[in-house]
Amino acid sequence: MVKTLKKIAALAGAVVLSATMLSGCAKEKEADTLVFGTNAEFPPFEFVSSNGLIDQYDGIDIAVAKKIGDDNGMAVKIENMEFDSLLIALQNGQIDAVIAGMTVTEERKEAVDFSTPYYVAKQVMIVKEGSDIKKAADMADKKIVVIQGYTGETCVNDMGYDYEAFKKGTEAVMELVNGKCDVVVIDSATAAKYIGDNEGLVIVEDDEAFASEEYAIAVAKGNDELLAKINASIEKMIADGTINEFSAKYAEGSAE
Ligand code: ARG
Repeated sequence: MVKTLKKIAALAGAVVLSATMLSGCAKEKEADTLVFGTNAEFPPFEFVSSNGLIDQYDGIDIAVAKKIGDDNGMAVKIENMEFDSLLIALQNGQIDAVIAGMTVTEERKEAVDFSTPYYVAKQVMIVKEGSDIKKAADMADKKIVVIQGYTGETCVNDMGYDYEAFKKGTEAVMELVNGKCDVVVIDSATAAKYIGDNEGLVIVEDDEAFASEEYAIAVAKGNDELLAKINASIEKMIADGTINEFSAKYAEGSAE
């Protein structure tokens, strides 16, 4: 009888011990791993590749994320999701930060905190060669395609034009290639990638119509500790030319 009780106590102890060990492991993993959310549909910033830098993911942002991890002695994990879900996932604590060529906007600033910006971009128009769209106002009576939730959608919406929104840049560009729309409005560096991949497309810029945009990393509101780490790393990467190096490496024309 006594023996059995002892056994039970020992077993219970073992269960308690392993439970603590488990939670201990989980905690340790959380502390040492930085989880970045992205939407890997935005070359050259993030895309899926057969030989990715982190898992199957590669691009300027993935290289930046990896460097932030390295600088802080942390492993980096990438969570790929829809662009529209990123800020919600951040607010839910599902991810620690968002790195997604994300433009800092007043509206987004109400929901999350942004890092020091690391890239300057703008919206451009992709059209077919020979198109009569020469400036943003020429889109007025054209079939416009944007990507859902991107700042390009906000711009076109603010201009008061009708448009159709697609989930992925590649789908939008296919629509243009197939002659089903006249113009795609999207970020400059991504547009450069798409026209490099598809014959017969050109970029039309209108700097009066489209303001410049800054990309930054987002963290949950008030997560100052992580923001400070990210900012220190980004500021270093800007100062020592690392960001420029990554941009050149992944830009249009260079090997992926
Ligand atoms: N810069 C644009 C925005 O912030 C588009 C970003 C799209 N990024 C992505 N990873 N799909 O809305």
